[in-house]
Amino acid sequence: MKMPEQQPPSAVQRSSRPDRAAEAPALKVALPEVVLAGEVPLRHVLETRRSRREYSDTPLRLDEVSSLLWAAQGITAPGGLRTAPSAGAIYPLHGYFFSFRVEGLPAGFYSYDADTRVLTQLARGDKQTRLAKACSGQQCVAECAGALLLTAWYGRVKREFGAAAEKLVAVEAGHIGQNWHLQTAALGLGSISIGSFDATALKMLLPIPQDEEPVYLLLAGCV
Ligand SMILES: Cc1cc2nc3c(=O)[nH]c(=O)nc-3n(C[C@H](O)[C@H](O)[C@H](O)COP(=O)(O)O)c2cc1C
Repeated sequence: MKMPEQQPPSAVQRSSRPDRAAEAPALKVALPEVVLAGEVPLRHVLETRRSRREYSDTPLRLDEVSSLLWAAQGITAPGGLRTAPSAGAIYPLHGYFFSFRVEGLPAGFYSYDADTRVLTQLARGDKQTRLAKACSGQQCVAECAGALLLTAWYGRVKREFGAAAEKLVAVEAGHIGQNWHLQTAALGLGSISIGSFDATALKMLLPIPQDEEPVYLLLAGCV
């Protein structure tokens, strides 16, 4: 079954962030069609979602990565509305994908464009050991096949919501995280949330804009 066509967001809802692709190497990967995990009942998905800290060596398929990123930040309605809710429909969280073991996606750190569903490589190679070190040395980070890093740009959300901005962004990250976890459960994959990391170390390790704050890391892999 095909997913509904994505609609481009309106100008007002587009992020005013600079184009991350501008400074990036040329590799861009258009994500394939979203996989629907058969007829998995929601109740089964909710019951089987569990944090997994051990993963096999089996790589993820690119269509699985596509489905995970769509579940996390997919555009599902005109005006750029997404799978996960966002206070004021601002969408202040940007997704970056780490490819460690993904068929058809060279190891590296990618920016995910939710509008075009294109991954743009920002750094080549395997940063997994250094990422795990920045996450309190957690073994699951060193073993997973891929991960989604959510970073927050607080500029607009602070203008709109003032002191509530950080809370609202954290809640939104939780919604995205749950979508990620439910999609992994539906696909028979494993996943876990990682909140224990050194944000300063991540910012030094990764080519992300200085005014973006790492908020949440979501792992995935075969079990
Ligand atoms: C915001 C958040 C951050 C978390 N950070 C970590 C983490 O850094 N390391 C870890 O092993 N588990 C982490 N977890 C997973 C929890 O330990 C896990 O959800 C909890 O033990 C309940 O188990 P369950 O997810 O299987 O229901 C995190 C969960 C949440 C919601």
